[in-house]
Amino acid sequence: MNDAEFQSFIDEVTDRNDICDVISEYAHLKRVGNRFAALCPLHNDKKSPSLSVSPDKQLFHCFGCGAGGNVIHFIMAAEHLDFMDAVKLLADRAGIPVPEFKGGGSSSARSSTDKKQLIYTINKEAGRYFFKNLAGDTGGDGYLYLKNRGIKNSTIKMFGMGYAPEGWTNLIDYLKGKGFSEHEVYEAGLAKMRDNGTYYDSFYDGRIMIPIINVQGNIIGFGGRIITDKGNTGKYLNTPETLVFHKKENLFGLNFAKNDRSGTLLLMEGYMDVISLHQAGITNAVASLGTAFTEEQAKLVKRYGGKAVLCYDSDEAGKKATVRAGEILTAQNIKTRVLTVTDGKDPDEFVRKSGGDMFRVLIERAKPLFEYRIDELQKQYKIETEGADGIETSVFPDAEATVEFTEAAAALLAEIKNPVELEIYTKRVADESGVSVDSLKASVENIRFGVARAEERREQQLQRRRQAQAMSKVENVKLYNAERLLLNLMCDKPVYRLAADKGLKYDDFTVELHRKLAKAMFDMYDADGAVDLGRLLQVFDDEERRTVSGILLDDKNTQDKKAAAEQPLKIILGDRNLREQDKLLAEGNLDEVYRLMISRAAGKNKSKEN
Ligand code: CTP
Ligand code: MN
Repeated sequence: MNDAEFQSFIDEVTDRNDICDVISEYAHLKRVGNRFAALCPLHNDKKSPSLSVSPDKQLFHCFGCGAGGNVIHFIMAAEHLDFMDAVKLLADRAGIPVPEFKGGGSSSARSSTDKKQLIYTINKEAGRYFFKNLAGDTGGDGYLYLKNRGIKNSTIKMFGMGYAPEGWTNLIDYLKGKGFSEHEVYEAGLAKMRDNGTYYDSFYDGRIMIPIINVQGNIIGFGGRIITDKGNTGKYLNTPETLVFHKKENLFGLNFAKNDRSGTLLLMEGYMDVISLHQAGITNAVASLGTAFTEEQAKLVKRYGGKAVLCYDSDEAGKKATVRAGEILTAQNIKTRVLTVTDGKDPDEFVRKSGGDMFRVLIERAKPLFEYRIDELQKQYKIETEGADGIETSVFPDAEATVEFTEAAAALLAEIKNPVELEIYTKRVADESGVSVDSLKASVENIRFGVARAEERREQQLQRRRQAQAMSKVENVKLYNAERLLLNLMCDKPVYRLAADKGLKYDDFTVELHRKLAKAMFDMYDADGAVDLGRLLQVFDDEERRTVSGILLDDKNTQDKKAAAEQPLKIILGDRNLREQDKLLAEGNLDEVYRLMISRAAGKNKSKEN
């Protein structure tokens, strides 16, 4: 596939996926004049709809978070995909067969796709090497370690687990033998570089290697668990961030769990928990990759499960992580329950002791997130006492504890969006604390009001700061705005003609990004006689696109575009002429100054006659 074929494939994908149709799957679009508006699904847009979508231009721009572009850029942002994966998703959506990309594609998309492919290949080879080590002479310790932890051979095979023996260049040597360079191994994250430019294995101190595989089935990185207590390198080492390995955007085990039909994902803390559960036949377990649970991961849960059960360790750290992850999941409207491991310190230990069926009982018993959080609060404030009848009950020790509990619980209730849930939990808290439902409701309302006001203020401040920042960089606001408006209007061919007839050149624009946009437009008009805005945007990087999409969509609802263009054109050309004059004067070239003035006066008269 050559560049032209690649471009026409991209064009077909954008043509057959109407941007309004696609975005309406993520947000409720309301017609406003010649465009649609919506609450932006790409940021936490609560108040006024800041997303603008133009059916004519097939572009979107959010005047709140600044995101913008064509339908592909929208999918990249909404689904956290890179360019090619977003294109593939849209091709699937429209039923367009995806051609083989190897050696094809536009040069930038191609080189990044090829590099990713190379890293996948290196990782696969490394995985093979680690796996073979488990059986070989040096694998003895690794294999023994896994056997001691009750990992079956079939599990080792299914997860592709392996062993990286002690040594500085075992893997590098092996991969060099397979034809890869040290630098390529480094780019895959499997080698580190010393200050003197030499390389050594990332995993050099005897570790069980756990491949991390994405939903497409590629190894994107590894987690390595040390098998001895010696050394000071940490229990786990993970592949660092690479072109293909983004810890915050993947979940370990999702390549298997995505095929589970339960509609729920079990979120574990550790790799070993996931492996143990799958071995016990519980196939919807996944884990973060050595970082706290993220919003991106919550979106994956939504896509591949729908509901979540948090199964973190029951120590203090685990409880904190549960609350935090719960907040992130709730923000994505994911129904979340919390499972508490009753026997053993983590799920891995529990399943090994009690088996998969007993773990299923724990899943059944998992509490809804808010119930769990209220129960935890109570544990914090209540104490155990023995009544006269010798029965242990938990009570609040004094009025202060009751008040503190009620306040904390009200703050929790204020987060509940679902009115039925709110009602149920309000009643429960009232029962527990002895405070009336009405005064509890009043507290909740107070808190909500305060939170909403604070958020509003913060957003306003942010907006003001952004505007001030943008303005501070601009010396001549009038010219700056004229350039933006004219660029917008020039999407219309008659306006472009008018501007070109008046002698406007792309380098008459004074702001660098404006000049780049103008050049792209002029080039397209020259070559094709029309601009394709979707294509035009491909010239810009992510940061630039935020500004450019804003320029292209902010047309101030103009009806007569040619008439509207007169004013900004005059400003831009006038400024250019002044600059030229200044330059000539500085050079002492008076003849040329007069010549210019005369020819411009003639030009003016000519355009008046027309
Ligand atoms: N982790 C990490 N680096 C560390 C410790 C932990 O990246 N130094 C991450 C790993 O993803 C690990 C998870 O945090 O899987 C949970 O840690 P832990 O509970 O200690 O690991 P387990 O997977 O449960 O491993 P094990 O049962 O062998 O202790
Ligand atoms: Mn653990």
